[in-house]
Amino acid sequence: MTNLSLTVNGRAVEAAIEARTNLADFVREKLDLTGTHTGCEHGVCGACTMIVDGMPVRSCITFAVACGRASITTIEGLDEDEIAAELRTAFSREHALQCGYCTPGMLVSARDLVLRLPDADEEQIRIGMSGNLCRCTGYVGIVRAVRAVIASRRERGIAPVPGAGREQLGPAGAGHKSGASVSDRKSKRAKASVTPAKIEIPDFAPTVVFEQRFDVAHAPDRVFDFFGDVAAVASCLPGAVLNEDATPEHVNGAFRVKIGPITASFNGSARIERDIESRSGRIVGVGADQRSRSSTQGEIRYRVVSLDDAAKTRVELTIGYSLKGMLAQVGRPGLVRDLASRLISEFAGNVNRHLAGAPAAADPRMASSLNAFSLILGLVSSQAKRLLRRLTGGD
Ligand code: FES
Ligand code: FES
Repeated sequence: MTNLSLTVNGRAVEAAIEARTNLADFVREKLDLTGTHTGCEHGVCGACTMIVDGMPVRSCITFAVACGRASITTIEGLDEDEIAAELRTAFSREHALQCGYCTPGMLVSARDLVLRLPDADEEQIRIGMSGNLCRCTGYVGIVRAVRAVIASRRERGIAPVPGAGREQLGPAGAGHKSGASVSDRKSKRAKASVTPAKIEIPDFAPTVVFEQRFDVAHAPDRVFDFFGDVAAVASCLPGAVLNEDATPEHVNGAFRVKIGPITASFNGSARIERDIESRSGRIVGVGADQRSRSSTQGEIRYRVVSLDDAAKTRVELTIGYSLKGMLAQVGRPGLVRDLASRLISEFAGNVNRHLAGAPAAADPRMASSLNAFSLILGLVSSQAKRLLRRLTGGD
């Protein structure tokens, strides 16, 4: 058991809990605050959303022990909150709920939008609320209710609260120990934009590791040489953009992903290591997406293996990563693994074309952003096949 001290709805709470207890179960089962609902328990539906250190957070995928010294507000803590009261009235008036299961999470997320975005239009509201799923209402009433509250506050001259009043940043639930203040963070960002510092890339223990491999119809020595040419590798990797200062050992650049309404651009650096003897290599990188306040550390280990008397090559990959921030809430390992395998199959096709002397991608735009449409189509079709196999007993 681990001792936990935190503040819940303005009240100091101390408890001994198991390390595996998530925040949603902790408030529901230990504190009897059952207004927080759990739906998917995978960080997808948003039913369990509550406020941790001023930030809406999915409590089903937040460990309670990670919230030491944090300040938590559940839906019960918003009873007297002015914006929550306006939202409750608007939700009733606009028929923005039926069974009400999603409503506590909806109200928490909507309150954050109302606080921060005084001019949000329907599209921004839909994007802002896209992390909260409702099975009953069809969303029209929900969007209308949030829009009405925003418009009414604007008409009454109520100013927004920049950043929803967050004073502490850092991983939500990390409490105040490691959190930098908003002004610290802003001044660091300003300095960083003036003097780009060389980023230290530490070794790390990835949270998720998986393996992939692909074959190319070229000799192993050629393929290994290709992996030593970082510009060529980047030109074959959909979504990768390199800065001009790349060297064989170190690169700075960005990796762009656009899937549905989610757009992320991870800017960062990578360290490259190669071992000619074993025809293997390692790329270790760090990156951050400012928009979603997400960061990642990743590592790709590759090994080039000769096939068919060196007529062909198999590339064996071990991919490891850790993801923090908002995208970690939707980037479930199974989804990332599926997306990675499709990304790698596009990469393999491009490598084959590149080594045959053809342009890497038929459409150059495909080289600068992940082809989300084909990835999602592939993902949906493979999941449908899996389901069909299960239903027909073929699994
Ligand atoms: S229960 Fe937490 S996101 Fe669905
Ligand atoms: S009102 Fe029923 S799930 Fe949203």
